[in-house]
Amino acid sequence: MLTLSIVFFADVLALPPPAVTCRSGNSNCTISGTYGTWPDRSTCKAAQVFYPASEQQIVDAVAFGVRNNMKMKVVTRLSHSIPKLVCPGGDQGLVISTKNYSRGIVIDRAAMTVTVDSGVELRNFVDTLASSQLAFPQSSYWSGVTIGGLLSTGAHGSSLRDLGSAVHEYVTSIRLVVPASPAEGYAKVLTFTQASEDLDAVKVSLGVLGVLSKITLKVEPMFKRSVTNTMRSDSDLEDQVATFANGNDYGDITWYPSMNQAVYRIDQRVPSIVPGNGVNDFIGFQPTAVLISQATRTTERVFEFTRDTQGTCNRARLQAFTLWTTGYGLKNNGVLFTGYPLIGNQNRIQTSGTCYNSSSSLFTCPWDPSIDGLFFHQTTISIALERSRDFILDVKRLRNATLNGLCGPDGYSGSLMRYVKKSSAYLGKPEDSVDIDVTYYRADDANTPRLNEDVLEELEQMAVFKYQGTPHWGKNRNVAFVNASRKYPNLPKFLDAKKRLDPNGLFSSEWSDLVLGVTTAGLTSDKDHCALEGLCICSSDRHCAPERGYFCRPGRVFQQARVCRFEELLSVE
Ligand SMILES: *[C@@H]1O[C@H](CO)[C@@H](O)[C@H](O)[C@H]1NC(C)=O
Ligand SMILES: *[C@@H]1O[C@H](CO)[C@@H](O)[C@H](O)[C@H]1NC(C)=O
Ligand SMILES: *[C@@H]1O[C@H](CO)[C@@H](O)[C@H](O)[C@H]1NC(C)=O
Ligand SMILES: *[C@@H]1O[C@H](CO)[C@@H](O)[C@H](O)[C@H]1NC(C)=O
Ligand SMILES: *[C@@H]1O[C@H](CO)[C@@H](O)[C@H](O)[C@H]1NC(C)=O
Repeated sequence: MLTLSIVFFADVLALPPPAVTCRSGNSNCTISGTYGTWPDRSTCKAAQVFYPASEQQIVDAVAFGVRNNMKMKVVTRLSHSIPKLVCPGGDQGLVISTKNYSRGIVIDRAAMTVTVDSGVELRNFVDTLASSQLAFPQSSYWSGVTIGGLLSTGAHGSSLRDLGSAVHEYVTSIRLVVPASPAEGYAKVLTFTQASEDLDAVKVSLGVLGVLSKITLKVEPMFKRSVTNTMRSDSDLEDQVATFANGNDYGDITWYPSMNQAVYRIDQRVPSIVPGNGVNDFIGFQPTAVLISQATRTTERVFEFTRDTQGTCNRARLQAFTLWTTGYGLKNNGVLFTGYPLIGNQNRIQTSGTCYNSSSSLFTCPWDPSIDGLFFHQTTISIALERSRDFILDVKRLRNATLNGLCGPDGYSGSLMRYVKKSSAYLGKPEDSVDIDVTYYRADDANTPRLNEDVLEELEQMAVFKYQGTPHWGKNRNVAFVNASRKYPNLPKFLDAKKRLDPNGLFSSEWSDLVLGVTTAGLTSDKDHCALEGLCICSSDRHCAPERGYFCRPGRVFQQARVCRFEELLSVE
């Protein structure tokens, strides 16, 4: 069974569930993420939601929050972050949705910049620029996100060239709405330019400094890209990983450790006069038949229930083969994949995601929480390039030590490795890094362990602790954030800016205080089964699932790791 269907056209409309639903008008609200379940499976509540449609209305919303001493958070239309960044904490907070603040896109051709409302969505942004023959050089690969959300979580594509792959590197100025004194009307707009020292705080802020209003970004004349994927043995991956980005404008690597294969994407800029109308419509982000997503989930449950590792490996191979032969959803003439190189405009290559705008309820994103389809964890960690060789070698040792233990994520399109440059942003990457994105099955309930639970936990702890990797702020399980704030040498400057901009911490939440290291108790738990969902590192068997044969054991390669390992129970007849 394929995780991803082969080709479905996005012609028919299933709107994603609203991020905010309220019991009465705009009050007594529940906020959900696009995946439907928060990492700790809690609910996220707010007393009130506002939908400002102008900067002045944002100022009014913040003033309302300040006057009423409410915690505040911004939420986007699609609410894509995995961690609870959008939850104001408790149930008396205020959420400010940017759903209606998504239209402003003002191009300044002389300055080669564009100024956008923070709720502008990526697809609309890059296509609007393209209609003026302009291009934005970098972004996430998934297009269902807003400019404000991309910045706040440090989202990126893949490149070490020029300014690098993170969207925030292209910011020239930001207008931010922050709390103010009663004399100032309780809220005010501040402008940060490249001359403002605080721009390095505001560029990547996790939403804790105030509400991003207008963002000015550098743009370029439209250019094209030439993309060629090559699949080969991963035998020299450790030698390639640190250098592949050199001489490659946008390259990335998809690693399939269980198959000993890696797909190298050679991806260069070419002038826009080069012929080609290619489109990247990544298969995993296309509208997928609901029945296929459900059948995939059912198959996975059977593999889990019957402990059928071989089944997960067969599925991973079939999926990798299908993705390869269909060019991952690359379409040379906009319709079909006919071979490499594929050449197309920057806006059609950099980012994709047709599923959240599908026009039929029979076809949606495969993870749509309303359909009982895919349900997964995502561990996304950036490893400094200088440590990447040793990291790859350790993952290979882990693979060698755990026959087929890494087939699970290989069935989720493999592990995507993308390059991110060291940033001056205080919460940006502290070093030139390669970011590895690993997706894997999540059980329906929090007490059920996973097949090869121990292998994925060891990989996660190895990346985060042994190799001091930094977590993607908008993805990951709680474990990845343990001691994360210490990896940012400029964190004190960030916290200093926060004290000045939001002195009463109205934009802070329990979650943001934990990940920023302001408070420590609560990021991990001591509850039974807590390790299964990354809510703790096990230190006792009860953190795993001893009743099902999962015990807390040391890692196989990274021996300091503590992981939940299945051991055959002595059968009692
Ligand atoms: C919110 O909903 C709950 C549950 O229905 C109710 O008890 C409570 O009074 C409501 N609060 C407000 C402020 O409407
Ligand atoms: C803003 O969004 C709300 C909720 O979706 C909607 O009901 C309202 O019509 C919108 N208002 C404006 C001015 O766009
Ligand atoms: C979503 O689909 C509608 C109708 O097909 C289209 O007009 C709109 O531009 C699409 N939006 C995005 C963000 O792709
Ligand atoms: C993994 O196993 C292969 C095949 O036995 C071997 O060639 C390779 O050196 C091993 N890799 C590591 C890092 O131990
Ligand atoms: C986090 O830091 C604390 C304090 O230095 C240390 O005791 C703890 O072991 C660290 N946690 C991990 C998992 O490395």
